[in-house]
Amino acid sequence: MTVLMAIESSCDETACALVRDGHEILSNIVSSQINVHTLYGGVVPEVASRIHVENISAVVQEALDKSGCTMDDVDGIAFTQGPGLIGSLHVGVQAAKTLAWAFHKPLIPVNHMTGHIYANRFVSELEFPMMALVISGGHSQIVWMENDWDFKVIGETMDDAIGEAYDKVARVLHLGYPGGPVIDRLAKQGKPHYTLPVPKTAGPYDFSFSGLKTAVLQLVQREERQGREIIPEDMAYAFQETALGSMVQKTLKAVDEYHPRMLVLAGGVAANSRLRQMMTDAFAERTDTKLIIPPMYCCTDNAAMIGAAGYIAYTHGLLGDFSVSADPGLLMPGEE
Ligand code: KG4
Ligand code: ZN
Repeated sequence: MTVLMAIESSCDETACALVRDGHEILSNIVSSQINVHTLYGGVVPEVASRIHVENISAVVQEALDKSGCTMDDVDGIAFTQGPGLIGSLHVGVQAAKTLAWAFHKPLIPVNHMTGHIYANRFVSELEFPMMALVISGGHSQIVWMENDWDFKVIGETMDDAIGEAYDKVARVLHLGYPGGPVIDRLAKQGKPHYTLPVPKTAGPYDFSFSGLKTAVLQLVQREERQGREIIPEDMAYAFQETALGSMVQKTLKAVDEYHPRMLVLAGGVAANSRLRQMMTDAFAERTDTKLIIPPMYCCTDNAAMIGAAGYIAYTHGLLGDFSVSADPGLLMPGEE
């Protein structure tokens, strides 16, 4: 039995979890800064790192208390090394190193995106070869995994991440930050009224969302010039159907080409209700590939997922030392 403490602070959530054997959550504390960043319409990096500093000790203590463990029970400290905001990452990295030094525990540096993928272990054993659709505020990737802890990015966004596009479109429509949940909610009442261009890309599994975001902006400006009021529900509907439609189509194409045993969704945008429905419908008839959708609590940033990925890294002997530092542009393991 292995108990890991995991620390996550790559963006605007200060989080700590205790996870047993990579799939059993003993505690999972997430302190969100969203209320503060909403005031500015997006994450302000300086403010984020400052709030991480203020909160990290209490979050670690609460995770320990809720788990019923003491530091004696902890076998290692997993932490998000990157990618993310440098000032934010730095706080979690320092906390992890300090704890590892003080309590003589091994350090396990974890790539945040592997955390999103391995969050699916809270739902199911993973089966390989596996494909992951990794969609967050910073990334949009299709990852092929022939084996456990073996990552190959076969498609990715050529410009903005899909979560970023949700957030930017929400800003254009004055809907606040983060944009994903509110667009998700509004689109449910929307009707097919506006038409947006389907994104074009070079590679068969690549994505593009920046042109779509600009098209929304231009459409909003045109309507305003002509004295027509924007119907936010209909605009949310048009944006969401276009963005998700092309992404789902490409993912299904990749599934048909690669034949994974499992497709997992990962990252904040995997919380989207329309995407979950589209994917569930698409896989209703497919028997060769199992679809795994993570529960809502581990789609957006949390530390339990870092404990899940950290456990696999730990079993592969992928430990860090005290020279490890935060890496805001960290690539997937094996990627150059
Ligand atoms: O994974 P995450 O918490 O942080 C990053 O690693 O980036 O993802 C955050 C992103 C934000 O862009 C947010 O707008 C989006 O996930 N998001 C959603 C939904 N919930 C969060 N996007 C679409 N629909 C949602 N329900
Ligand atoms: Zn994330």
